[in-house]
Amino acid sequence: MLVSAKEMLNKARDGHYAVGQFNINNLEWTKAILLTAQELNSPVILGVSEGAGKYMCGFKTVVGMVKGMIECLGITVPVALHLDHGTFEGAKACINAGFSSIMFDGSHYPIEENIAKTTALVNTCDVLGISLEAEVGSIGGEEDGVIGRGECADPDECKMVADLGVTMLAAGIGNIHGKYPENWEGLSFDTLEAIKTKTGDMPLVLHGGTGIPDDMIKKAISLGVAKINVNTECQWAFQEATRAYIEAGKDLQGKGFDPRKLLAPGYEAIKAKVKEKMELFGSVGKA
Ligand code: 13P
Repeated sequence: MLVSAKEMLNKARDGHYAVGQFNINNLEWTKAILLTAQELNSPVILGVSEGAGKYMCGFKTVVGMVKGMIECLGITVPVALHLDHGTFEGAKACINAGFSSIMFDGSHYPIEENIAKTTALVNTCDVLGISLEAEVGSIGGEEDGVIGRGECADPDECKMVADLGVTMLAAGIGNIHGKYPENWEGLSFDTLEAIKTKTGDMPLVLHGGTGIPDDMIKKAISLGVAKINVNTECQWAFQEATRAYIEAGKDLQGKGFDPRKLLAPGYEAIKAKVKEKMELFGSVGKA
């Protein structure tokens, strides 16, 4: 069964750990993440970008695949299926398709418009028991073709959006999607502390989890981050393992090409990466 992310994030906030959001792109990624969460008895959030949703034949297909896997693999840990960086239209489509959690990313709108659109979704999500993530202050790097600047959010704007009744809040604190540049200054903990002071109990979300040093991750968790998103590191792990397999000539099995064998090393690499992150985030044993 899919669950809202609300309870798992409130527990994480109170217990001073973070739940990982791992983005999915296909069946192998989804299976690797679900089974790792089950093996480690950890709650987990499956992130789906609109691009990945399109690739997997639409949000309804994703819901069907994830629900089917949860049943067939005997997954009993809490699993939220979450739209990542959704548009307003995408958010509504995922609500209709049966997602249990939604991110509406209105960070590129003027704050008034972000607030108006987020408010409309708060009401719908409340009625349906779906968790809702809002964003203030865009996250740098590229996400489905959109490039942000890694700005730091205004703590007063964060409070305004948190007060709308969202479940969790993503606020830019200098974080970037993908690879951090050599001269990256690190997370702005002053900004994070100011946001935490203003927003109180609101579970905070750290995007761009790839490549943030472990000590910064731990400090962010101690300052109120309860959800951390990881995507690029899983992609790298998958790519590296697949390339090594091909370069070793192992995809040529004499009888022909076997996609299940080709994708197996990438699957194992994602399992290892997700385990590493769940241990770092402290969510192991918290289901
Ligand atoms: P990374 O790709 O940097 O891990 O960020 C993932 C993310 O924040 C998805 O929303």
